[in-house]
Amino acid sequence: MKILLLCSAFNGLSQRFFVELTDAGHQVAVIVFVNNEDLEQRLKDDPPDIIIAPFLKRAIPDHIWQQFKCFIVHPGIVGDRGPSSLDWAIIEGWNEWGVTLLEANAEMDAGDIWATRTFPLLPMAKSQIYRHFVTDAAVACLWELIDKLHNGQQKGKPLDYANASTRGRERKPLPATARTLDWNTDNTTTLLRKIWASDSLPGASTVLAGVPVRVFNVWQADADVTKLRGRSGDIFARSGDAVCVATVDGALWIGHLRRTDEHAKAHVKLPAAVALAEALPALEPLATLHVTHPDSAWLERRDRIGILHFPLLNGAFTTHDSLALCKLFKQATQDEQLDAIVLAGGNDFWSNGIELNSIHVADNPAEEGWASINAIDDLAEAILTCQNKLVISAVNANAGAGGAMLMLAADRVIMRSGVVINPHYKTMGLFGSELWTLTLPWRVGTETALALTEDCMPVSASKAASIGLVDGVIDTSRSAFLETVIAQVSEMISPAQLPTNQQEKYLNRHGMRHERASAEYRQNELKKMHANFFADDMHFSARRKAFVMKHPPCKLPDHLQRYNLICSAEVLAECECQ
Ligand code: COA
Repeated sequence: MKILLLCSAFNGLSQRFFVELTDAGHQVAVIVFVNNEDLEQRLKDDPPDIIIAPFLKRAIPDHIWQQFKCFIVHPGIVGDRGPSSLDWAIIEGWNEWGVTLLEANAEMDAGDIWATRTFPLLPMAKSQIYRHFVTDAAVACLWELIDKLHNGQQKGKPLDYANASTRGRERKPLPATARTLDWNTDNTTTLLRKIWASDSLPGASTVLAGVPVRVFNVWQADADVTKLRGRSGDIFARSGDAVCVATVDGALWIGHLRRTDEHAKAHVKLPAAVALAEALPALEPLATLHVTHPDSAWLERRDRIGILHFPLLNGAFTTHDSLALCKLFKQATQDEQLDAIVLAGGNDFWSNGIELNSIHVADNPAEEGWASINAIDDLAEAILTCQNKLVISAVNANAGAGGAMLMLAADRVIMRSGVVINPHYKTMGLFGSELWTLTLPWRVGTETALALTEDCMPVSASKAASIGLVDGVIDTSRSAFLETVIAQVSEMISPAQLPTNQQEKYLNRHGMRHERASAEYRQNELKKMHANFFADDMHFSARRKAFVMKHPPCKLPDHLQRYNLICSAEVLAECECQ
C-alpha cells in the first residue's frame, strides 16, 4: 500500500510506524503537518492509498478526510476524546488505559473504531507510559488495521456510548490548575500524579526557593529522609543535583526543573540544583545526602558478568555522566572475577549521545560541547580497546546520534525487536564522533554507512540486523530482554566457548582498524567536531537551540523532504510509462 504518515513531529511513535510499515514492504512517505500547502501539494503529487496519523495534535482538514481514508491513533480507551487523554488517566488514578485507532470524521476522536488495545497503567511519568505501553499498543492496532484493510473491510465500528464496554468519555483539556502543585493541601500521591501527568510537556508548575519552575523526574523519599523535613514546599536536602522538598505527609526528590522566569536558564530542562544554582545558597544549611537516584549509572555483578546500567534521563550523557560511566567501565575491566561486560543502557533510551541542554546553557557552549564529546569518546575508546573482556551492547530501548554509534564500540550488539535507532548526527549540525567512522563502515560497508548518516532516517532492529549493523535481534518483551541476553552471554563465556569468542574478538578488532590506531580515527572525527562547535560550520548552535527550546519546525524538515523526494523518484522509476 502507499501510506502517508501525517504527524505533528516525526517522534518516536511515528518513527516506529514508519519502520514497521517500510520493513513490511509498504511504500511510506512522511509529512510533518506544518502547513496546509505542503500537505496538499504532496497529496496532489503522489496521492496515497491511506493516511495514518500516529501523533497529530491538530484536526485533519475536512476535504482531506473526505477524499482519503484517514486513521488516527488516539492514546485513550474506547470513547475517550480530547487532547489530554493520558494526563486525565494518570490524575484520576486509572489502573488500566488504552489506545484506539479510529477513522477521521467531522468530530474530533469520534470516528469509527478499527482497533483498540488496553494495558496496565503503572505509576510512572506520562512520557514513559507513552514510550512503552502506548507505542506497543498502537503498533498492535496498526497491524490489525492493515489486516482488516487487506481483507477488504470497508468500515470500522461506530462509537457507541450506550454500549457498556465503552468506558471513555469526552474530556476538556486538563486545566492549568490540575498541573499546579499545592504544597499545603496536596499529599505526596497527588503531587506525584500531577507531575507524572504533566511530563514531559508542559511540566507541573510551582515555586521553589522563590523561583517559578516546572517540575520533572521525581521520586518519593524514603522514611529516613522524610524525618529531616521541615515546612511543606521547602527544599531541605540535596543529593547530587537532585533536591528534596517536604510535603504534608512525606517528601519528594526532584531531579529536574525548567525555570519559567526570565532567567538565562529559563525554558530549558536542567538538573534541579543547576536550575536553582543562585537560589540554593540562601537555603543553607541543606542536608547533603547520598541517595540512589533512579537515573544514575551502576554496575551489577552476576556471576562472571558485569552489567553496566545507565538509565540516564532521556538517554542523554553530560560530561560528568560520560566520565563517571567511563570510570565504572574501566573498573569492570580490571575486575578479574568478570569475563564479560553487558552495556544495558536504560529502559527508556539506551543512549541519545551528549546532553544538549547543559551545553546550551553553558557560559561557553562550544567549550562545554567539546568537553562532553571528549568525555563520551573516552568511553567509546575504552569499550573499543578493551582487551580482556567480551563487551556486549544489550539494546532494550531506542538510541540516537552518538548513543546509536556508542553501542557499536562493543564486540557484539544484541537488540530487542521493536527498538528504533537513529544512527546519524546531521540533523543536529554535527559530523559526529564516538569512533563511528571506524565501527559503522566496518559493520555495514562504506556505502550503507554513508546512506545511514546522510539520509537521517530511523532504522528498525530487524533492518539493523539485515544490514549487519547489529549482531542479533531478540523478539521478546522489554522486561524479559536483559535476562535473555544474560543467558546468551553466559553461554558465550562458558569454558567451551570463551576461547573461540576471545579469538574472534581479537581478529575483529584487528581487521576493523586497517592497521590504523583507533586514536587516529578519533582525532580525525574530533577535528571535524571542533569546527562544528567552534566555527559552527554545520549550524549546530541554531539546530541545538531549536531542539532544546522545542521550537516547532516552520517547514518540512530537510531530511524528510529529501526522503519524500527519494520516494517519489522510486515511484516514478517503477511506473510502466517511464
Ligand atoms: N540531550 C538532551 N535531551 C535529549 C537528548 C539529548 N541528546 N536526546 C533526547 N533528549 C530529550 C528530548 O529533548 C525529550 O525531552 P522532553 O521529554 O523534555 O521533551 C526527550 O529526550 C525525548 O526525546 P524526543 O526527541 O521527544 O524522542 P524521540 O523518540 O521523538 O526522538 C531522537 C529520539 C534521538 C531522534 C531525538 O531525541 C534526538 O534527535 N535527540 C538528539 C540526539 C543528538 O543529536 N545528540 C547529540 C549528538 S551525539
